Amino acid sequence: MKSIRAYFMAKFYDTAIKKVEENCLSQWRSDLLGNLSGDVLEIGSGTGLNLKYYPKTVNMLVLTEPDSNMRHILNQRIEESDKDNILMANYHAESIDLPDESFDYVVSTLVLCSVKNPLNSLTELKRLLRPNGQLIFMEHVAADDNPKLLKWQKRIEPFWKWIGCNCHLARQTENVIKQAGFNSN
Ligand SMILES: C[S@@+](CC[C@H](N)C(=O)[O-])C[C@H]1O[C@@H](n2cnc3c(N)ncnc32)[C@H](O)[C@@H]1O
Repeated sequence: MKSIRAYFMAKFYDTAIKKVEENCLSQWRSDLLGNLSGDVLEIGSGTGLNLKYYPKTVNMLVLTEPDSNMRHILNQRIEESDKDNILMANYHAESIDLPDESFDYVVSTLVLCSVKNPLNSLTELKRLLRPNGQLIFMEHVAADDNPKLLKWQKRIEPFWKWIGCNCHLARQTENVIKQAGFNSN
């Protein structure tokens, strides 16, 4: 049953997100990724919606995606792109079999809501970053400043998680990022 949901999630992901993409996400992706350089790791790359925003100043781009349905579409996007510096892998963010301090940037967009263990994932990402490396993230989070909305997020979260392949609506991701040792300097 889970594999059927994962199949449909991958197949309809771009269509489902299209309006939000047009309204804001594509601009945010461009702002976040447009100035990156050096060696970059992206976790949970999905169908590869970030791909077109990486500039030529990126030396090596490693895209990881654990779901095979997503990877199938991601692979097509990579082949259609004009980039020849991309490696694709199937790691979960919690355990990435690459050496310490391998990357200048680690990118996570709309992924920390879905990982099994956010703290383990972020600790792993910190390990992979070079001393002056940066975590670049865009995540939806718990509406802590809006009690009414937060109540609804919590109410529908069990259903949302089921249909959205473990997507949590009310995670306090910023706290976990800090807990993993990242700071905003
Ligand atoms: C909502 S999609 C986001 C896709 C893409 N990053 C984007 O910005 O459109 C969430 C992605 O996280 C992936 N994912 C789920 N659990 C994961 C984990 N433990 N480690 C890495 N990626 C994971 C899913 O397979 C899915 O591709």
